[in-house]
Parts: sequence; C-alpha cells; structure tokens
Amino acid sequence: MTLQEFCQANRQRQLEWLIEYVRMPSISSSPEHAQEVRRCGEWSVREMERIGLRNGRLLETGGHPVAYAEWLEAPGAPTVLIYGHYDVQPVDPLDLWESPPFEPSVRNGELYGRGAVDDKGQVLMHWAAIEALFEANGRLPVNVKLLVEGEEEIGSPNLDAFIEKHLELLRADVAVISDTAMYGHGIPSLCYGLRGLAYFQIDVQGPNSDLHSGSFGGAVANPCNTLAEMLAKLKDEDGRVRVPGFYDGVRPLSEHERAELGKLPFDEAAYRAAIGVDALTGEPGFSPLERLWARPTLDVNGMWGGFQGPGAKTIIPAEAHAKLSCRLVPDQDPDKIGDLVEDYVRAIAPPGVRVRIQRLHGGRPSITPIDHPATLAAKRALERSFEKDVVFMREGGSIPVVATFDSLLHVPTVLLGVGLPDEHAHAPNERLNLDNFYRGTLAAAYLWQELATLSF
Ligand code: BES
Ligand code: MN
Ligand code: MN
Repeated sequence: MTLQEFCQANRQRQLEWLIEYVRMPSISSSPEHAQEVRRCGEWSVREMERIGLRNGRLLETGGHPVAYAEWLEAPGAPTVLIYGHYDVQPVDPLDLWESPPFEPSVRNGELYGRGAVDDKGQVLMHWAAIEALFEANGRLPVNVKLLVEGEEEIGSPNLDAFIEKHLELLRADVAVISDTAMYGHGIPSLCYGLRGLAYFQIDVQGPNSDLHSGSFGGAVANPCNTLAEMLAKLKDEDGRVRVPGFYDGVRPLSEHERAELGKLPFDEAAYRAAIGVDALTGEPGFSPLERLWARPTLDVNGMWGGFQGPGAKTIIPAEAHAKLSCRLVPDQDPDKIGDLVEDYVRAIAPPGVRVRIQRLHGGRPSITPIDHPATLAAKRALERSFEKDVVFMREGGSIPVVATFDSLLHVPTVLLGVGLPDEHAHAPNERLNLDNFYRGTLAAAYLWQELATLSF
C-alpha cells in the first residue's frame, strides 16, 4: 500500500485513536489530575512504541513527565526533533460545552473535546504519519526524536532544565512543532513568529480586615479602588504600555515585512463579528495583524477582591488582586520586562496599602528563519497535501520552547500547524477539523520525505 492509500484507508481508525487520546483528562494545572496527566504520558509512550518507534521512555522532569521515543535507523539522513504537548487546559466553564470535554464527539467533520487541536490532534498527526510511512516503506526517510511534554499549558516550568540535562539525547538538525493555527480554512500556513510571555500577579493589601464602609469609608485607602487606579496607569488611552523601557527591545517591523503582512486577507468586520465586539482597539499606526503578531501587549487576565455575592454589602475590602500578562515580541527579554514591570508597579503604589507583585512564568519570543531549507521543504509538503499555496504568518500566542531549541540545541524550528483560529483552543467546545487532521498527516509524511533530500 502506498502512503496515501494507507492514510485514506485508515481515516476512521486514526479518528478512534485520537478519540482515545482526547478522552484522557490530562489537565496539567490541576493537582487533582496529576495521576491522569501521568497516565496520558505513559499512554503516549506506549503508542509511540506500538507504531514502531524505539527507546520509548517516560522521562521525569520534576513536574509532569516527558514522553519520549525515537527512530534513528536512517544513517546519513537528517535528524528531526518533533515537539508537542499532551497536557491540556482546564475545562471551565463546563456548562458552556455542547458535549462533555472528555467525551469526544464528532459533528460536521469536526472532533470536539479538550485537547482536540491543542495539542493532541496535532501530536497524533505525527504518529499517524510515521505509522503510515512504516507501513508503506518499512522505514522512515529521516531520523526522528519525539518529545511530547506534559507541562506546556502551565508555562513548561521544568522543560529548559530537562533539555539542558538531555542535550545529547535531543541533538537534532531541525525541530518541527505542530501546535499553531493556519491563517484560515483552506489556507495552509507557515508560522515564523511567536510572541513571548511575562506573567504577574499583583496583590494589594489594605486594612487587616474588611471594614464597615460607613464607619471607615473616606479615611482609609480602599484596595479595590487602589488596584483599579494602578491598573489604569499601566497603559495610556491609545493602548501603549506606560512602563518605562518597555518598548526598548522591540524589533521594528521592516517595510518589507509590513508589506507582506499587508497582503494577507483581513476582513475586520468579519473578525469583529466572530468575537462579538463592535470595535477593535490598539496602538495607533499599526494594523490589527501587526498589533496581534508583532507588537507587545499588557493585559489583565483577571481581577478580584471585596464583595461579590448577590445584593449589596457595605465594606471597605481588606484586599484586591489581579493577574497580568505581557505578550512579548523579539527582542524583548521576559526577565528584563519582569524587572521593569515590577519597578513600575512599586513606583505607582500609593500610601495606605501594601502592594506585592509576583512573577508567575515567562517565555521568550521567537522568529524562525523564513528562508531556511527546512522551512521551504515544509512549504512544499503543505502545498502538496493541501493543494493550495502556503501563506507565511506570525502568531500572537507563545511556544517558549522554540527559543530554547535555538539557544540550547542550536536548531531552527519549523512550525507546521494545522489548527484553525476559530477552533476554540483554551475555551469551551474546542474542536479539530478532521480534513485538516488528515491533510496534516500527509503533510508531515511529505515533510520527512522532503527533509531527507537536504543536507544540514
Ligand atoms: N498552542 C498554544 C500556542 C499558540 C497559541 C500558538 C495561539 C498559536 C496561537 C500553546 O499551547 C499555548 O497555549 N501556549 C501558551 C503558553 C504559555 C502557557 C507559556 C500561551 O500562548 O498562552
Ligand atoms: Mn499548544
Ligand atoms: Mn495551549
């Protein structure tokens, strides 16, 4: 059987395979799910061995384990490091799911379930491609090492140390990651830029207990008001971040890149309608795509404090809190941005409250080489399987390991993602388009064939 015949004949079985994967509640952020996360890692190892990969191992990290397997029997051919993650985001709010998040369900050619697109479907796509190549040819055209981690959705706190510890095991010529989205349906895409991240929590402590707002209001600083005033000082009316030095590291967009991004179709009215807002905002002088992909942000992810029950309760709350995050672009450094934000928050903290700022996690931004032979090989592979021209794009999201692969392993990364922007990653009703899953499997197999012809 040829590769294509095998993939075509096995579509139903591959879907059932993926359903088994998505059924596992591998929520990395939830301590109650730690055993389920590990089970999912063990299952990943078993499946990789079952399709013919060797040296399958569940490797410890200090947190959730890494699932690893390899096949290194193509002497002289390039070695590809394939990265993905088997952990998933939490599922709340549960009542908004049309079918339960861990009872995968197929409707209209889409598989619904937590992790369907982010990232189990895209990990399994690589397994399916490898299985198909083994079936068709008895071997792979390149050497592969698969690293499927279990902590991506919590910021990969142990991954850099893990990579540092396993430099020899992970040595490769190029990395491939399928964990991004295409520009739109029917538009195969190569992503060459990801934003980084710096995440914070601000805690404002006022009086040592909630106080009667009649007896005390007017003479005591209110932590909720104070927090709101501080948050309002983080950005100006135009949406520019007011933290001194924040933009110092930002690499300006070249005229050429602006022109290229400007060629991508962007229907602002449809975009607004899809997310249900009546206007887009952001830094003046930049298009929406530039703001999303090439400019840094500072956003409040959540804020709480004081009375939140039904009706009214008259208090000066004792404390207030906020979670903040900055998406970063090359060449901003998350540690440096962390220092700058911390200094600024301290500087604007008024008397009468105690303000604490904690750093939660961070990740570096990345730009991958657009003209690297491996990127061009991926372009050919995608065009062959999707039967359409590839567009080059950036993403606003973060995959911090891309920068680590560059700095520790000295390998470029190809981002071969087949998600769609409206597949509800991290949200209720996450789904994966099964046609993209199928074409993505073929694209991965074609990519190995293409890479086999290159020398690194
Ligand atoms: N698959 C995403 C990254 C992504 C998001 C790519 C959007 C393309 C578009 C990944 O699983 C993710 O969610 N990353 C986190 C990283 C964070 C926890 C360090 C993110 O971007 O919030
Ligand atoms: Mn992901
Ligand atoms: Mn994610």
